[in-house]
Amino acid sequence: MEDKEARLTMMHLANLISVPMALHTAVKLDLPDLIWQGGANLPISPAQLASLIRAKFSLATEPDAVNLQRILRLLAGHGVFEEVPDHGNPPAKAFRLTDVGRTLVSDDQGLSLGAYVLQHHQDALVQAWTCLHESVIDSSQEAFKKAHGVSAYEYYGKDSACNSLMQRAMSGVSVPFVRALLESYDGFGSEGLKTVVDVGGSSGSCLAMILQRYPGLQGINFDLPEVVADAPRYQGVTHMGGNMFESVPAGDAIFMKWVLTTWSDDECKKILENCQKALPEKGKVIACEPVVPENTDNSERTRALLAGDIFVMATYSAKGKHRTESEYRNIGVAAGFTNFRALYVDHFYTLLEFIK
Ligand SMILES: C[S@@+](CC[C@H](N)C(=O)[O-])C[C@H]1O[C@@H](n2cnc3c(N)ncnc32)[C@H](O)[C@@H]1O
Repeated sequence: MEDKEARLTMMHLANLISVPMALHTAVKLDLPDLIWQGGANLPISPAQLASLIRAKFSLATEPDAVNLQRILRLLAGHGVFEEVPDHGNPPAKAFRLTDVGRTLVSDDQGLSLGAYVLQHHQDALVQAWTCLHESVIDSSQEAFKKAHGVSAYEYYGKDSACNSLMQRAMSGVSVPFVRALLESYDGFGSEGLKTVVDVGGSSGSCLAMILQRYPGLQGINFDLPEVVADAPRYQGVTHMGGNMFESVPAGDAIFMKWVLTTWSDDECKKILENCQKALPEKGKVIACEPVVPENTDNSERTRALLAGDIFVMATYSAKGKHRTESEYRNIGVAAGFTNFRALYVDHFYTLLEFIK
């Protein structure tokens, strides 16, 4: 590689923070919903968009269309918006959403990936990033704890706005995933399955979808007491507060999505041992976690999974991580499960069955 190219690449890497921050700005200003307009998604100029923002947020003055265009251009370069040339005089630019940008548009339940974007960039998490090097020097140092004195989950539990943003972020990511999962995976329809426990189920929205698909099932949504205290009611779902490191409610199957990732190998073993005790003979844990490939490559999937891995290191635990399939297999065996299989049902999540 030429020196000029190498310097350009490094300048780009150093400024990559502009991308998530611009994304955060786009969500804060509600640009996706303002452009989408119920499905019209017509190309809109920054000046027109500025007027919509002013009306939406009842601002005294018009937002700066030039700065708005700078945000839109960067995100167009990253595939969130499409830049449509305008042939007027003077020429102006117009923007509409791409399929990627469309994931930020609120659905009929008000859910989108927008809450995930906001949750990831809230002040408390941004501060934790500045302590990331501490987790490399000493993995007993959680960057988040270093920055705030408490773990991320303790922090969310004490701040109701954080807690509800976390729940919306989880639902915004998980609901579309579970909808797609239920189309390709029928493990919840197994004979004799009456009760499903969702360990670390957050608001219970994933479990509610499983029960909608299999109306004969009963569900227990199990999470920290402060999380289930605020959880919405769903038909067939009983919310139960507790600590999965102590015990897990008994059920015929245990669903667990995006929980193991945030804990160390020993902690995962403990969680899985408690699940094992709560299951009948041949019962299974159906876990959904990001699973990284053994070797690094520069595909979008691998990059997304490795980026998420560092988010886990900064926010949750220096020993929680995105694991490989064989790492999960080994933890399952150590926790006493006799069988294991991984199903690559999604680009981000892999379905892991641990069978007792
Ligand atoms: C990353 S979130 C995943 C939420 C949900 N399963 C989903 O995918 O949308 C992890 C969940 O684990 C819960 N959790 C953390 N510590 C826990 C504990 N000791 N016992 C039970 N749940 C816990 C958190 O409150 C949070 O809801």
